[in-house]
Amino acid sequence: MLRKALLWASTNPLLAERLPRYGFVKRATRRFMPGEELEDALGAATQLGTSGITTTLTQLGENLRSEAEADEVLDHYRRLLAAIGENGVDAEVSVKPTQLGLDFGASGTRERIATLARSARSTLWIDMESSKYVDATLEIFRSLRGEVDNVGVCLQSYLRRTEADLERLLPLDPSIRVVKGAYQEPDSVAFARKSEVDRSFVRIASRLLRARAQGGKGRPVIATHDPRMIAEAGRLAVELGLAKGTYEFALLFGIARAEQQRLVRNGHRVRVLISYGSAWFPWYMRRLAERPANLWFVAKQIVG
Ligand code: FDA
Repeated sequence: MLRKALLWASTNPLLAERLPRYGFVKRATRRFMPGEELEDALGAATQLGTSGITTTLTQLGENLRSEAEADEVLDHYRRLLAAIGENGVDAEVSVKPTQLGLDFGASGTRERIATLARSARSTLWIDMESSKYVDATLEIFRSLRGEVDNVGVCLQSYLRRTEADLERLLPLDPSIRVVKGAYQEPDSVAFARKSEVDRSFVRIASRLLRARAQGGKGRPVIATHDPRMIAEAGRLAVELGLAKGTYEFALLFGIARAEQQRLVRNGHRVRVLISYGSAWFPWYMRRLAERPANLWFVAKQIVG
């Protein structure tokens, strides 16, 4: 119930405009994001780098009002990629197709992502958003794979369609980040029960690891904080004889920090996704929905 209310709040424009004005709401986000500016994200990436953790950076923001805004986002990411290059930090970039104009047409979005992939030294990741964007996002990914080899895409295990999507993508030798999925979706589209989402996650992770063990070049990225998913992926990788550096675990900034350190200590490759920017409200509501216990943290900011 609380999860549904928080996901509803994440799509409410009035709340998105009003709530961020309150200082306590802003302070509460600091647990999950280092700040609103590009420099804050780079600073956090440098800091994490000292403990052996690599990063992925993403600017928060979702649907746009005009296509011109997509070009501003493109400029921002070009600046970010240049700053990463100058700084020398091991950071990649992940982008949301809607931020790069998907509501105004797929071809412009494809070109903007292609521009960024060409400027990136490493993989340029494409986030997966709500289910209505999956077809267009996968089509963009497929068409880009014919042109550049440094794009990767996120797949969500809560969607009933994802395993079939994965089978169709595998011949492209793709880099794929598997997540459970963060949006509110109808039961017709997504598994309703957590146990089903988890089982689907394990099947997808296993398929990715097997493709890698069979000589695939794509990077399998297991993106979760769930200790059971992490343990199962680790077990499968050992069973398949995969060396630790051939797959990665990815977690969100500020979440399960002890687990991040534990994985690094055990020799795993760990990448932390750092979100930054001023348009953090919907994203923050989705983080609260994942673990409503985080609301206690917000409550402490109100009283303290
Ligand atoms: P689950 O939600 O089952 O949580 C398992 C355990 O992890 C919890 O019991 C708790 O201990 C801990 N935990 C999880 N979330 C927490 C939180 N917010 N605060 C505190 N503890 C928490 N989604 C999407 O739809 N598109 C995308 O492109 C991406 N990209 C992405 C990249 C990376 C690197 C990560 C880690 C995640 C995403 N996601 C995403 C988000 C993803 O879909 C999912 O919502 C979250 O990762 C939470 O799911 P878990 O797999 O952690 O499991």
